[in-house]
Amino acid sequence: MQANFWHDMWASGVVGFHQAEMNAFLTDYWQKLDLKGSEKVLVPLCGKSLDMLWLAKQGHRVLGVELSQQALDEFLTENGVTAQPIQHAHYCGYELENMTLLCGDFFRLSAEDCQDVKAVYDRAAIVALPPEMRARYVTHLRSILPKGTRYLMITMAYDQSRVSGPPFSVPEAEVRQLFSDVESIEKVHEVSFEHKGVPRTEMVFVIQT
Ligand SMILES: C[S@@+](CC[C@H](N)C(=O)[O-])C[C@H]1O[C@@H](n2cnc3c(N)ncnc32)[C@H](O)[C@@H]1O
Repeated sequence: MQANFWHDMWASGVVGFHQAEMNAFLTDYWQKLDLKGSEKVLVPLCGKSLDMLWLAKQGHRVLGVELSQQALDEFLTENGVTAQPIQHAHYCGYELENMTLLCGDFFRLSAEDCQDVKAVYDRAAIVALPPEMRARYVTHLRSILPKGTRYLMITMAYDQSRVSGPPFSVPEAEVRQLFSDVESIEKVHEVSFEHKGVPRTEMVFVIQT
């Protein structure tokens, strides 16, 4: 997906992926990562997700990365949060009490930016990327985050020939192939339903690298 696709989507105000409530898979399965609660959590392709507020409320420090300045501005205004603007080598952004929000391309994020990150929360991030970008996304994450990083990753699988993404179909086999060399991958939840007449399965993975 080109950056303009996302900028246009935010400008149009039609952001169907945004959830007005915390994600239930996050609140139900985050404890499976077995964290203390104070660790820094990376939220790639974060949009204006309320899940970042939930993670911060648990005591985590959140590092969100998002292409759209509008998304981050809406996150602040809609949640009545005050923040200091920051300027970074490759990003502009905001510093909040328990959160750093970087505005720019995720693929420019460095290991230095991710110092102390112990976990990743991926909801609507890997599935937002077309097939050729997904391997690059995982390779980049793995290259900037140390071994031992834990992931909560939510994906969905459906017949891609019947519907075009995003969100794209990222079936279990692909998740297992992308993370083939990790310590463990556990599918902790799976639910199937019909979406616009097409069967769809949503899955939640806990990954220990
Ligand atoms: C499907 S949305 C999901 C947002 C959020 N994770 C959520 O659950 O609401 C994907 C987001 O990724 C952002 N995005 C796409 N490509 C990106 C990139 N290369 N770097 C940073 N953000 C990107 C888009 O602007 C969009 O807000």
